Amino acid sequence: MIDTEMHAEIEQLRSTLNDYNYQYYILDNPTVPDSEYDRLFQQLSALENKYPELITAASPTQRVGVKPIDGFQQVKHEMAMLSLGNAFNDDDLVAFDKRLHTRLNDDRPIIYACEPKLDGAAVSLLYQDGVLVSGATRGDGSTGENITSNVRTIGSIPLKLMGSGYPTTLEVRGEIYMPLKGFDALNEVALATGEKPFVNPRNAAAGSLRQLDPQLTAKRPLEFCCYSVGLVKGGELPNSHSEILSLLAQWGLKINSQSQQVVGIDACIDYYQQLSEKRHNLGYDIDGIVYKVDDIELQQDLGFVSRAPRWAIARKFPAQEEMTILEAIEFQVGRTGAITPVARLQPVFVGGVTVSNATLHNFDEIQRLDVRAGDTVIIRRAGDVIPKVAQVILEKRPPNTTLVKMPTNCPVCGSPASRIEGEAVTRCEGGLFCRAQQSEAIKHYASRKAMDIDGLGDKLVEQLVEAKLIANVADLYSLENQQLVKLERLGEKSVDNLLGAIESSKQTTLPRFLYALGAREVGEATARNLANHFCELPIIMQADFDSLIEVDDVGPIVAQHIVNFFSTEHNLEVIEKLLAADIKWPEILKPDASEQPLLGQTFVVTGKLERISRNDAKLQLQALGGKVAGGVSAKTTTLVAGPGAGSKLIKAQELGINTIDEDSLLSLLDSHK
Ligand code: IVH
Repeated sequence: MIDTEMHAEIEQLRSTLNDYNYQYYILDNPTVPDSEYDRLFQQLSALENKYPELITAASPTQRVGVKPIDGFQQVKHEMAMLSLGNAFNDDDLVAFDKRLHTRLNDDRPIIYACEPKLDGAAVSLLYQDGVLVSGATRGDGSTGENITSNVRTIGSIPLKLMGSGYPTTLEVRGEIYMPLKGFDALNEVALATGEKPFVNPRNAAAGSLRQLDPQLTAKRPLEFCCYSVGLVKGGELPNSHSEILSLLAQWGLKINSQSQQVVGIDACIDYYQQLSEKRHNLGYDIDGIVYKVDDIELQQDLGFVSRAPRWAIARKFPAQEEMTILEAIEFQVGRTGAITPVARLQPVFVGGVTVSNATLHNFDEIQRLDVRAGDTVIIRRAGDVIPKVAQVILEKRPPNTTLVKMPTNCPVCGSPASRIEGEAVTRCEGGLFCRAQQSEAIKHYASRKAMDIDGLGDKLVEQLVEAKLIANVADLYSLENQQLVKLERLGEKSVDNLLGAIESSKQTTLPRFLYALGAREVGEATARNLANHFCELPIIMQADFDSLIEVDDVGPIVAQHIVNFFSTEHNLEVIEKLLAADIKWPEILKPDASEQPLLGQTFVVTGKLERISRNDAKLQLQALGGKVAGGVSAKTTTLVAGPGAGSKLIKAQELGINTIDEDSLLSLLDSHK
């Protein structure tokens, strides 16, 4: 009797935990805090410890195996895991569609299932009576490795299928991959602990799956998403690929939310365009798109050729990684004197553009990569990110290479270069005496978000500095027509336009001007905060450390940079000249304290608001002197919580923070109108 009751209680706990797991990993929508999951998990563990005879392999407590193994066993795939033919452009896709029409002898448009091609490792999962019994890598397609203990640790892989109606034997195929957030976090830890970081999320996923100790795999942020079935016995599946995937989703497996069914090859091309645009916001790497004939009967008619199906094709994105030769390592000097090593490359087409330079960040990075001139390297360019050297192929290193040394003098002005302890950057100490720093400071001053001097591009700034016509930003305002027309490539008309643009830049705003001055770490947002806080330039220039850290988003480091900037003689001279050149901005009115009734209060808004937009709420609270922060902390005075509020509400309750709903927010705003 006791046993049956215990059994029921244990089963109940397992079922609840499985539900929570499903909401968390598959729906991406947890309904309880982690602490609740942990509490039930502990409860189940305790019961299972007491009644070990009731433990089952599919229990949520049994994800992480106890002991590491010596090696992986080989598994033969009963049905081979195939690869895909490739298409590299629209023409290849059109030709693919045409081949299918010819083979099927039917010119009606074909229905295709379009799916992202996930960039991870292919795996096969075998479910027997709905219970996960084994997991295997693809291997060479016919034989893979048994990685059952490792796949069991992955939260998005159900140990037991949900619902009913699944075939007795069901082989699910899909990709194990590492989302980018998890990948970055993993690499950050690797760098901090002196371990070698992973080159890309695919290697990280594949490497994590091949750990002999499942406890290690369990710590890696892996996900699984399925894209097809293999062996099916003892049950029927629907006769279209998309319906099969929907059914897999009903059984608790994860399918990709970007998948779409389309009619005809033109729609496939449109899908490619749409996904290319979204690609870098998906949160995980994809390397192309897979198109599959949706109708299973048509798939069977079309069959296979060598090791790939005739009914599917992968349209590849331009590769994000390519190999090339690093010809030299040179050093560039930036606006703040930072000396950055840059790799000069044999031009290579990667991520859709030709790349001939890649950043090496700093000397630590050079040492970490052990990169040398002459090396064969892998260049990675993902999205619009600056191309970087991801890896050196040591096997291809020519003889007699040496590790480059960080210069002890600035490569542009020859001043000493030094590296402050604890910082990664080496800086030229020449300050604005250094031509590189002069040019960079002027380029920044003229840039669109700063003083917005149209026509004063990077090349022209360098030309003007080179010709010694300007050495600092104030010199711009004494440039004359006769000096400029003498310059190469600058016609009368461009000179007039340029002088006009310089003249117009004199009408600006205080935030723009502050940003344009280019103090270290003072970006647009900080400049705006400084302007709104102090309202007047002289007050900002004289502000001390303590009053600066009062400003929104200004921490001790930024505050110290600002103090340093405004105590440097040269900077003060330049500012004086700029003001003498009549640069002006509209006055910022200091708000009257009586109009700032929410001064000193910090609000956080969470959940859904129905009668006021979140942004309006924010603006109105700020107009009354309140601060609006993104996250709840001890500094929060009030949390505005609409329906659907989650972790922020819980945190606020834990911290005992005053919480109000939308109605109370509106009456609060109203009462100060
Ligand atoms: S279908 C017979 N669908 O691409 C069909 N594969 O070259 C076989 N992959 O090793 C695969 N995303 O790891 C398919 N949505 C997707 C995919 C996908 C990624 C990988 C898979 C396979 C390789 C095929």
